[in-house]
Amino acid sequence: MKRKEFILKAGAIITATTFVSKFSFANSIEDSKLSNKRAKRPNPDVFSQPILKAIALGINAPSPHNTQSWKFKIIDSVNMLLYVDENILLPETDPPSRQIHMGAGCFIETAVLGAQRYGYDADVVYFPEGYQGKVDFGQKPVASISLKKGRETKDPLEKYIESRQTNRRKYRGDIITHEEFDTLKTLSGASHSKLKFINTNFEPYFNLFYKGFEIESKTFNTNEETRNLFRFNEQQRAEKGDGISIPQMGYKGLMAILAEKSLAMGDKEKWHSEKSISLSLKNVQKGIDSTKGIVVWYTENNEFIDWIKSGRDFVRFSLALIKLGLYAHPYNQVIQEYKEMEAVQSEMNALLEIEAPQKIQMIVRLGRSSKPYYSYRREFNTYLVD
Ligand SMILES: Cc1cc2nc3c(=O)[nH]c(=O)nc-3n(C[C@H](O)[C@H](O)[C@H](O)COP(=O)(O)O)c2cc1C
Repeated sequence: MKRKEFILKAGAIITATTFVSKFSFANSIEDSKLSNKRAKRPNPDVFSQPILKAIALGINAPSPHNTQSWKFKIIDSVNMLLYVDENILLPETDPPSRQIHMGAGCFIETAVLGAQRYGYDADVVYFPEGYQGKVDFGQKPVASISLKKGRETKDPLEKYIESRQTNRRKYRGDIITHEEFDTLKTLSGASHSKLKFINTNFEPYFNLFYKGFEIESKTFNTNEETRNLFRFNEQQRAEKGDGISIPQMGYKGLMAILAEKSLAMGDKEKWHSEKSISLSLKNVQKGIDSTKGIVVWYTENNEFIDWIKSGRDFVRFSLALIKLGLYAHPYNQVIQEYKEMEAVQSEMNALLEIEAPQKIQMIVRLGRSSKPYYSYRREFNTYLVD
């Protein structure tokens, strides 16, 4: 028996039916039709080993383009190693794999909070075997995670692991106040990255968000990378369990059906056509214009450790947002590291007074909206490595 099958079988009395049926979300008619076949996320309670419970909650974390570039080596029932998956990178939109490593940080924080639900403290050691550069991606762990029984209190953010979502819909209601931002910061706690909050004079930021998105869409290679991660109907979303899609972009109802249809299952010519790009830009503009606040995470340096820790910071803030009934939508195009983006990136850095080696790690728009489409995660055993 292969090691990962053994881990699953030894660690949990789990059958295909219990695994998929205990935790299903039905957010739309299409969802509910499929929910009998495939749960969107694993149910931590079907596992008996604490490390598997922590992972099952950890994979609710956000990741760039929903890539879920995570590999887990289970050492025993309380110890694991986390790697990025070198086969799931975003070479065009994320050449240094900075965002991929932020996604690893997002997993760490979510898993650490998840372990608390079951009374475990987590000890995280970053880069336990060293980490020099690209050759180490997927070969050396980004972190070891060790659980220890005995935690009596839970971080209040733990409750929001499953309800945290990216929300790309139009936002409504009031501008986010400084008081709300302060509450969010207090709930998030200590942060490695520094935060900037903007709730007035949005116009220059809106222009740069839009320009960044336009450049990403009109640059063939980055737009093609997105096409490859796009899932064009519910069946594909359920089968692949990753990526982004029209409902995830905030479309709903008839608009979602029409938009999905117009993409003709990812037909290359249609995807890259002026018509498709301009329709998507129109939707983007509406979202941007409805922004009720902007938050920026930046670090003093731009090393692997800054990326991982910023991911952790971002997750804590995202969970705090849910507690307050708020949502975030990242607009990171402008901070991505490829040459077509350099000019607008300099403009954004100047606007925010960021100077190298400082680096903006994440920039989001904030607001209130209805609950969006709930995204899938891959089948649990696809993350496990021997
Ligand atoms: C490091 C990082 C960068 C991201 N950048 C963007 C972005 O630029 N635009 C966007 O719409 N979503 C962005 N996201 C959100 C992901 O697409 C989202 O987390 C993923 O699709 C899973 O959906 P969920 O957050 O609703 O669970 C980013 C997430 C992470 C962790």
